[in-house]
Amino acid sequence: LGTAGGAAAAGLVVGAAGGAGVATAVSSQGEGPAVLASLGTAKAMFHGKHQAGITTPLQARGHLIAFDLAPGSGRKEATALLRRWSEVAQQLMAGRPLAGEDTGVAFDAGPSSLTVTFGFGRTFFDRTGLTAKRPVELDPLPDFSSDRLDARRSNGDLWVQIGADDALVAFHALRAVQREAGDAARVRWQMNGFNRSPGATAAPMTTRNLMGQVDGTGNPKPSEPDFEKRIFVPEKGGPAGQEWMAGGSYAVVRRIRMLLDDWEKLPRGEQEAVIGRRKKDGAPLTGGDEFTEPDLQKAGPNGKLVIASDAHSRISAPEQNGGAAMLRRPFSYHDGISADGVPDAGLLFICWQADPMRGFVPVQRKLDRGDALSKFIRHESSGLFAVPGGPREGEYVGQRLLE
Ligand code: HEM
Repeated sequence: LGTAGGAAAAGLVVGAAGGAGVATAVSSQGEGPAVLASLGTAKAMFHGKHQAGITTPLQARGHLIAFDLAPGSGRKEATALLRRWSEVAQQLMAGRPLAGEDTGVAFDAGPSSLTVTFGFGRTFFDRTGLTAKRPVELDPLPDFSSDRLDARRSNGDLWVQIGADDALVAFHALRAVQREAGDAARVRWQMNGFNRSPGATAAPMTTRNLMGQVDGTGNPKPSEPDFEKRIFVPEKGGPAGQEWMAGGSYAVVRRIRMLLDDWEKLPRGEQEAVIGRRKKDGAPLTGGDEFTEPDLQKAGPNGKLVIASDAHSRISAPEQNGGAAMLRRPFSYHDGISADGVPDAGLLFICWQADPMRGFVPVQRKLDRGDALSKFIRHESSGLFAVPGGPREGEYVGQRLLE
C-alpha cells in the first residue's frame, strides 16, 4: 500500500488516460507542463463492504476533523447529521457539485480520489443513548509513559477523515462536512496533512515521511490471506449488539511531532540504525531491497546484531509482537514554525485494525519501553474511533447503528 499499485484492489476507478491511476508525468515535447490527465478522474467508491479511505492508496492531501455533538443534540440529530454527511460524501466522491449553493472551490476538478471516512468516538454512545451498542474496542487506550497528550486535540464524539489528490478538492470536502454539521455538532479539533503527489516519482513507490524515511514497507498487503481478518471486523459472528460494526475497522489517530532539529543532526548511519533500514531505499540493514525480509538474528563481524535490539522496525515487527499488526495510513503535517524556530511538523499517524488490543496497543507498549526513535518524536494527541463498514446502496454511513 501507499502506492498507486494497489488502486484496483482498493476500489479506485481510474480514468482512461492513466491505466493504474498513476499520473502520466510526461509531456509530448519532453518539456513544458506534464500531462496529468488521469489524476482528477480517479474515483473511490462510496458504497461497498468497507468505507473508502482505509485501503485506498494514500492521497496527497488529508484533513482530519473531530466533532462533539452540541448540547441538546442526541440520537435524532446525530442520525440526521450522518444522513447529510453521507449525501455530501457520495456527491463529492463522485465528482458532482453539491445541490444548492456549492462554493465552487472544486469546480473544474474531477473527484481526484476523494475519500470521506466517518467514525464514532467512545463518548458518542452515551450522548445518543446507544451505550449498549458501544464496542469494548473503544475502551480508552492505556497511558504510555512517553505520551504528552493535549486532551483538547484528542478524541471526540465523531471523526471524519478526508483525503484527495487535489488540495482544493480536499478543502472543498472539509468545508462541506463542517457546514453540514450545522447546529448539531461543534468542531473539537482539526488537522491538515499531506503525502507525496502521485506522479512525483517515476514509478509508484512507498511514500517517505518528514524524517526522510521510506515509510509503509512493512504494512500488511491486501493480497495476504489474513489481511481482512487483521484490519476489518468480521462480517458475521461478532458480539451481539455490535453487528453494526461488521466490515468496519478501528482507527487509532496519533499526532506525533518529529523533533527534526535533533533528528537532522544525527549522521545518516545513526539514523539508519534507529530504524534498522537504509534511508536511500528502505532496505533492511541486513541487505536486499525494500521488500526483502529483515534478518533479525544476523550479527555483524563485531558480534553485534546488525538490526539493533532497539531499532524501530525490529520492535514493531508483527513477529516480535505475537502477530499484532495494523495498517498504517498516515499523513505528514507541517503547521509552521514556532516562536523558538522549531518546526511544528511530524506525522498524523493513523492505523487501522480489527481490534486495537491486537494492533496498536501491544506495539505501542513495546515502543514506549525501548524504541530508539522515541528520543526524536513526541505523541501530542490521540484518538480512537469505531469506523463502521461501508454503506450499502441507499444506506447512510452508520445506519445500522443509528436506525
Ligand atoms: C515501521 C517510521 C511511529 C508501527 C516503520 C518504518 C519506519 C517507521 C521508517 C520502516 C518501514 C516500514 O515498514 O514502514 C515511524 C515514524 C514514526 C512511527 C517516523 C513516528 C513519527 C509508529 C507507531 C507505531 C508504529 C506509533 C505503532 C504503535 C510500525 C510498524 C512497522 C513500522 C508496525 C512495521 C514493522 C514491520 O512490519 O516489520 N515505522 N514510525 N510506528 N512502524 Fe513506525
